[in-house]
Amino acid sequence: MVNSLTPLQILTELEPVAEQNLNRHLSMAKEWHPHDYVPWDRGRNFAAMGGIDWEPAQSELSEVAKAALVTNLLTEDNLPSYHRLISDSFTRDGAWRAWVDRWTAEENRHGIVLRDYLVVTRGVDPVALEQARMICMSQGVDNATGTGDNSVLHGVAYVTFQELATRVSHRNTGRVCDEPIADRILQRVAADENLHMVFYRNLCGAALNLVPDDALDAITQVLRNFRMPGAGMPDFRRNSVLIAKHGIYDLRQHLDEVVLPVLRKWNIFDRNDFGPRGERIRDDLATFLDKLGKDVIRFEEHRDRALARDAARRERESA
Ligand SMILES: [Fe+2]
Ligand SMILES: [Fe+2]
Repeated sequence: MVNSLTPLQILTELEPVAEQNLNRHLSMAKEWHPHDYVPWDRGRNFAAMGGIDWEPAQSELSEVAKAALVTNLLTEDNLPSYHRLISDSFTRDGAWRAWVDRWTAEENRHGIVLRDYLVVTRGVDPVALEQARMICMSQGVDNATGTGDNSVLHGVAYVTFQELATRVSHRNTGRVCDEPIADRILQRVAADENLHMVFYRNLCGAALNLVPDDALDAITQVLRNFRMPGAGMPDFRRNSVLIAKHGIYDLRQHLDEVVLPVLRKWNIFDRNDFGPRGERIRDDLATFLDKLGKDVIRFEEHRDRALARDAARRERESA
């Protein structure tokens, strides 16, 4: 068992695993077409072509659904930054490169289908949406892993958690839309995110077998610094509060549906291949998870109080 390799050595060692998982992915990925998911018969021209421009009353979506859909779409729109991240983290040859390009092509569908849906159904203001896209993409995403390190171990650890987080968030967004067409779109997108997560989780698992201490170090750093993309998006604070408050992506889901299942899959707390440094990092990770568990309880108490206040206010207003 080696315990330190350069990023390039790791990529070379893991290339057969990347190839195997790329083939697995290709055999499981379902071809689908964004246009099949969009209710085009609900569309009409905007003023520039003789119709009418967007007005708030045209939207049938709740404020929560709008906030979640826009945040998810702007995250998908930042694909060039994420392409850059994984392209820098991985090599530009062989199976790694084939994966990066395939993944990018699949991700592009997510932005296409969400935008087409929102514009055709007039779910949100298309002008504000376009302005927000320009701001987000011009700013891009720097330091996506949150650790300042984008090399393969940090990269693959980050995208494992990120894909799973995105899956949870899309799926729950579909639910709050309370509308079968949006729900179908978001289920389709969430299924893609799940397959992406499996690729990265398998690669990160193979990295753990190859360089256990270094891989665990990267995983722990990524978890300590993890945040959902979106800082810098217009209305980010307001939207992220709505998203957490209404159970689209909150700290409980982050811990129970994203962090813990992945760590269990990697068997982190039952492995015996860590060296003394890895053992220390694992202890730190356990302490961190313990604290996160306490933060989750505090978050839920705080949210329950906020939701109760909202309900009381609504009752007063309707009395
Ligand atoms: Fe996506
Ligand atoms: Fe994805």
